[in-house]
Amino acid sequence: MAETHLVPAKSLGEALGTLLQTVGSGADLDNLRALLCQAVSQLAPLPGETRTKQQNAAFQAIVAGLKRFSSGRLLWRGRPSFMSADLLRDLRVEAESLSGRATRAAGHHFHPGSIQANAFSVSEQLTKLMEEVSPGSLPTGVASFVYYFAAGDGIPPHLDTNMFSLNVLLMLEHCYVQHPSHLVLYEDAAEPRRLLLKPGEIVIFDGSALVHAREKLKEGERISILTVGFSPKAARL
Ligand SMILES: [Fe+2]
Repeated sequence: MAETHLVPAKSLGEALGTLLQTVGSGADLDNLRALLCQAVSQLAPLPGETRTKQQNAAFQAIVAGLKRFSSGRLLWRGRPSFMSADLLRDLRVEAESLSGRATRAAGHHFHPGSIQANAFSVSEQLTKLMEEVSPGSLPTGVASFVYYFAAGDGIPPHLDTNMFSLNVLLMLEHCYVQHPSHLVLYEDAAEPRRLLLKPGEIVIFDGSALVHAREKLKEGERISILTVGFSPKAARL
């Protein structure tokens, strides 16, 4: 029987980091990211799940490699002062009005933002906050509502596309009975971080380099989110 050899996670991470540095940009980088995305969905355990030693080692290597690319950390969390009750209400009303026409995707529905969301995505206040969090970043003008409607909805560990390289995620609404679904961030492969966001709260992270997931919803649970993409300064050099 063939013997399985474990490659030390650190050296594999180094190799992956080098590959990420040298792969160039555009389509090559997107293809590599798509491959990594496939891999991490299988390798990264959701909280409470377990993986084999080999899977853990491979996932650690990927997370280590991605850190060559960006900090892979949560950059900001909170409810900014400009997130007034009126602004939150307007965004929620728009999300609700579009939800019936949202497109079904794996584990969620989505719909492009309309007047309110698009205005928010390029607003002076959000751009100013992003300038503090990630100097030189610019709005892409892309805003999208994401809906988790039903029990079992959720998104396994993944990486975002370049469009959402800097991901501003605003919680609009979260209804649940008990044991709510959390957002999960894999800043360190071994210790995923679970975040329960309140309506009006924002998290900002580099979705293309920080593996993240949405835990599966329970019966009677429902979530509406607005995601807004920003482009980091480094991406435009
Ligand atoms: Fe994502």
